[in-house]
Amino acid sequence: MSANVLVVDFGAQYAQLIARRVREAHVYSEIVPCTINADEVRAKDPSAIILSGGPKSVYEVPAPSLDPAIYELGIPVLGICYGAQLMAQQLRGEVARTGAGEYGRTTLTRQGGSSLLGEWPATSTCWMSHGDAIARAPDGFVVTASSPEAAVAVMEDVQRRLYAVQFHPEVVHTEHGQALLENFLHREAQIPATWTNSSIIEDQVAAIRQQVGDEKVLCALSGGVDSAVAAALVTKAVGSQLTCVFVDTGLMRKNEGEQIEETFTRQFGVELIHVKAQDRFFDALVGVTDPEAKRKIIGELFIREFEAVARDLGAGGDGPRFLVQGTLYPDVIESGSGHAANIKSHHNVGGLPADLSFELVEPLRLLFKDEVRHVGEELGLPAEIVWRQPFPGPGLGVRIVGEVTRGRAEILRNADYVVVDEIKKAGLYRELWQSFAVLPAVRTVGVMGDARTYAYPIIIRAVTSDDAMTADWARLPYDVIESIANRLIREVEGVNRVALDVTSKPPGTIEWE
Ligand code: XMP
Repeated sequence: MSANVLVVDFGAQYAQLIARRVREAHVYSEIVPCTINADEVRAKDPSAIILSGGPKSVYEVPAPSLDPAIYELGIPVLGICYGAQLMAQQLRGEVARTGAGEYGRTTLTRQGGSSLLGEWPATSTCWMSHGDAIARAPDGFVVTASSPEAAVAVMEDVQRRLYAVQFHPEVVHTEHGQALLENFLHREAQIPATWTNSSIIEDQVAAIRQQVGDEKVLCALSGGVDSAVAAALVTKAVGSQLTCVFVDTGLMRKNEGEQIEETFTRQFGVELIHVKAQDRFFDALVGVTDPEAKRKIIGELFIREFEAVARDLGAGGDGPRFLVQGTLYPDVIESGSGHAANIKSHHNVGGLPADLSFELVEPLRLLFKDEVRHVGEELGLPAEIVWRQPFPGPGLGVRIVGEVTRGRAEILRNADYVVVDEIKKAGLYRELWQSFAVLPAVRTVGVMGDARTYAYPIIIRAVTSDDAMTADWARLPYDVIESIANRLIREVEGVNRVALDVTSKPPGTIEWE
């Protein structure tokens, strides 16, 4: 896969959002560290380069810089925020510490014609976040827009195809941001819009066939989106060589196992081994209340169960030599090196014995989560799987405070179903990052009919988030909270009270354990 656009990362999370926006314009983009030099860029042969924003000032020592020879390669470059200031400074313009920065919505005013801004109106709203400002554009550049505190808000050198914008076109608060990126990509850099879900699927199917040849492949399905889409891609590529394994830990969501069976066995015709390991998990968790101990027991037992299946299938001998992993692009970037993604803890094959060493098949390693979902839809996976909210590897185990028993898991599973069902009915499921029920270790007194009850409360946990690193508690409408609460008490045996978690992250985590 040749990278059409390189997004040079100057820190924080800016580069990821830019890379996603470029892909939304149907152009493949890849994130590279700012230490990349001109030779390395040339070797990647990109059609355009975007310099991201970053948290530093160009005056800080050391401030991240760029090999200036990159500007001489004849490749169109767009600098954004920090990237714009760096371009101005490196090409001998002037960046000033004005002391009057702009943060948030700012009005941008055009000055004459601009191919980059294209059809933008004379004034529009854009999102700024800068302390320093470009005071003078380098020779050869024309200033085409300004804002109250940034005389050079947009500058362009059409001859050399170098462009810079002080604001953030990648954020939604910039009115015509996506249009600007598309002008740069399609018009200035002349890159066609060919990166589509179908092209992703075609490329990955070819890559999987090439990698595995006629060998057997193993895939652990967790019920989550990533493993399901990865498995669906492998099915399309080499379905008859694939065996999927679904280990039911007893801590899955309601109907999760049936859904997986239905989709992979009946719809896709894949060989699926459904390991009903519930009893072994509950037995191992008797009397365990410490959160870390629970996670460890669940994780290790999962590996043992998976290993047993793998051995039965002849792994390490003439059985499967390849293992599918649903590693995503952000995991690859965050691993630092740009290579060797961390293996997710849930499918921690790192814990398998050495004689079972698999070669990994990672068909999603170039994709962001939203792309994975769209690819999943195109592959024909049901919406319930494709749009499912994230679910932790240890499953309901980290939402049952105190001892995990069959009975308490059943209460929580039923409660979780009610919460999610009402959230879906209210049309909120996709906009929430996660919404679920938590079962605490205390019981409280209540009254139902004429009888006194002594039963568990359920806590409703719903959050909005972009990446789970931070999260805000969701302001659910009162009537939705009310219908959840009514149904929990009416329908879920063992529950007599409902509470709402109004903690953001930080200081709370999303899960309770
Ligand atoms: P916390 O609770 O740390 O969770 O705010 C952040 C995100 O990670 C998920 N999570 C896990 N995922 N294995 C996983 O695969 C785990 O052990 C695990 N613990 C938390 C959580 O659901 C949230 O999306």
